[in-house]
Amino acid sequence: MKNLPIGVFDSGIGGLTVVKALTEILPHESIIYFGDLAHLPYGSKGRNTVKKLSLESAEFLYRKGIKLLVVACNTATSIALEDIEKTFDIPVIGVIEPGAEEAVRQSENKKIGVIGTTRTIVSNAYYDVITQKNPAERVFQLATPLLVPLIEEGWIGHPSFYLILEEYLKFFNDKEIDSIVLGCTHYPLIKENLRLLRPHIKIVDSAMATARSVEKTLQEKNSFSDSLKAVYEFYASDISETFIDLSEKIMGKYVDIKLT
Ligand code: DGL
Repeated sequence: MKNLPIGVFDSGIGGLTVVKALTEILPHESIIYFGDLAHLPYGSKGRNTVKKLSLESAEFLYRKGIKLLVVACNTATSIALEDIEKTFDIPVIGVIEPGAEEAVRQSENKKIGVIGTTRTIVSNAYYDVITQKNPAERVFQLATPLLVPLIEEGWIGHPSFYLILEEYLKFFNDKEIDSIVLGCTHYPLIKENLRLLRPHIKIVDSAMATARSVEKTLQEKNSFSDSLKAVYEFYASDISETFIDLSEKIMGKYVDIKLT
């Protein structure tokens, strides 16, 4: 069991930001990744569709034989985490709880901003978890649906990208937030751009927080791998050149993605 891989899924390629964080802090753990690119984006779909697709993605990885599952998609976590937990008999970790915990830890003035897909923001998942951890927190949430397509099209850093990002960030201008949660797996890729526009705001990256939560769970369950070599496998339900480029950008090297 110990040497089985960790399963990680996302609606697309953004979940690789969690894989990258995992490889950094748990270099001996093998990983199987699944990106449901045929059904991307989850963020603008209805609840039932997101639930169904998330369960199917989880099932694909479970059947491969995994010791732990990471739902590396904020939208899937916000809608389907409980159903996935109930369906599969392995530990399941979503990205929202670790991100929310990190935000509560980092925020000093108790005013936290959250950006994410429409489905994630409408679900109130971040608001619920953050205020559950600390009822004194004030949470300001904003759906930023244009960011995922811009990131996927490679427009990060383009003047029009900054215009849109600035337009979104204006929402927080009178809210006095001191931290902002990247509530979407694509957003760690625009950390530096956010920092440039709002240098005084702390950025909460749920990818690293999630990887730490995986580490903690493996420790508690005494299930760290004792194999010397980690094996990585990447699957997707569809693939295109744009996503191959994006995966390379996130992982820092060519990623061999197999079609399911
Ligand atoms: N992976 C999704 C998330 O983290 C973003 C892309 C999508 O909408 O499917 O919310």
